[in-house]
Amino acid sequence: MLRSATFPFFLLLVIALLASVSSVLSRQSTKCSPKILLFTKTAGYRHDAIPTAVKTITDLGSGRLTPSALDSSVSTATWTTVNSEDETDFEDRAYLNQFDAIVFAFTTDVDPPGVGTILTDAGVANFMSYIEAGGNFVGIHSSTNTLYASPAYGRLAGGFFSYHAGSQKVSLKAIGSSHPATSKLPNPFNIKEEMYHLRSNPRLLPSPAHVILTNATAYPDPGGTHREGKPQPLAWWREGGLLDVNSTALGGDLDGQSNYTGGAGRSFVTTLGHEIATWSNDAFQGHIMGAIAWTIMST
Ligand SMILES: *[C@@H]1O[C@H](CO)[C@@H](O)[C@H](O)[C@H]1NC(C)=O
Ligand SMILES: *[C@@H]1O[C@H](CO)[C@@H](O)[C@H](O)[C@H]1NC(C)=O
Ligand SMILES: *[C@@H]1O[C@H](CO)[C@@H](O)[C@H](O)[C@H]1NC(C)=O
Repeated sequence: MLRSATFPFFLLLVIALLASVSSVLSRQSTKCSPKILLFTKTAGYRHDAIPTAVKTITDLGSGRLTPSALDSSVSTATWTTVNSEDETDFEDRAYLNQFDAIVFAFTTDVDPPGVGTILTDAGVANFMSYIEAGGNFVGIHSSTNTLYASPAYGRLAGGFFSYHAGSQKVSLKAIGSSHPATSKLPNPFNIKEEMYHLRSNPRLLPSPAHVILTNATAYPDPGGTHREGKPQPLAWWREGGLLDVNSTALGGDLDGQSNYTGGAGRSFVTTLGHEIATWSNDAFQGHIMGAIAWTIMST
């Protein structure tokens, strides 16, 4: 009698123990889930696509959107998105530590340097310190049109924006096929986009940019300063030495602030995303998911 009453009691105890262990484990996996700071503050031009981009990036990270054009290495990636336009986030160095990547999407400043800026000097110093400590960075669309007064940021992003051709239908081409941000793009990838030109060639940084997307065909372009090298860089990644600078003059824009060096993390920049409609394009969603997931994968 005692035995048969004791057995279910032990069974219940075991079940209760298992349940509490699994709840601890799931709390831990929630805690370990990567987290990104999605910064969308603007001091200059403000893009209409910002709310759509924030929703899409948040949904991609939470698994609510699963692009079919997605590299298998990132198909199960998830992250938690914290969207902010508050520059005081960057004035608290410890606050930045919780993020696996800082994402600048559609950030803009006013050029010439120092006229308008989205971060205070203390904010820039903390941001660069976060990168020096191994933090990761993702830049989307006008991220290169930001923080002109900070050469170290220019190096992190790969270069500063020069000008763009007007938004128009363009044919793009992935260079190589092994990066998760481009491996599943149709070839050519046809979208409506602004084509960005830079003031320096991101491939000439000591930790050179690996350019993985360019234009497949020519397009009407009003012309301007082209120092970005050929083929035209539209998306690129860098790993390690993110803030390093050498004596190669990169148009002068990237040379100052050489006290910020190193940065063992990853940096991924795509200049695409201008049009609201682009954010519901399945291949583009795969591009963004591949970019963010690759960048935070190492941490
Ligand atoms: C700077 O780095 C680039 C890219 O690695 C290299 O091509 C260039 O020669 C370097 N310049 C100097 C002066 O070391
Ligand atoms: C890319 O576009 C530029 C500007 O129109 C053009 O000079 C270049 O030839 C194009 N590249 C290709 C591969 O068509
Ligand atoms: C780096 O140098 C700049 C001036 O070029 C200065 O404003 C900044 O405080 C320095 N940062 C550090 C961390 O020493």
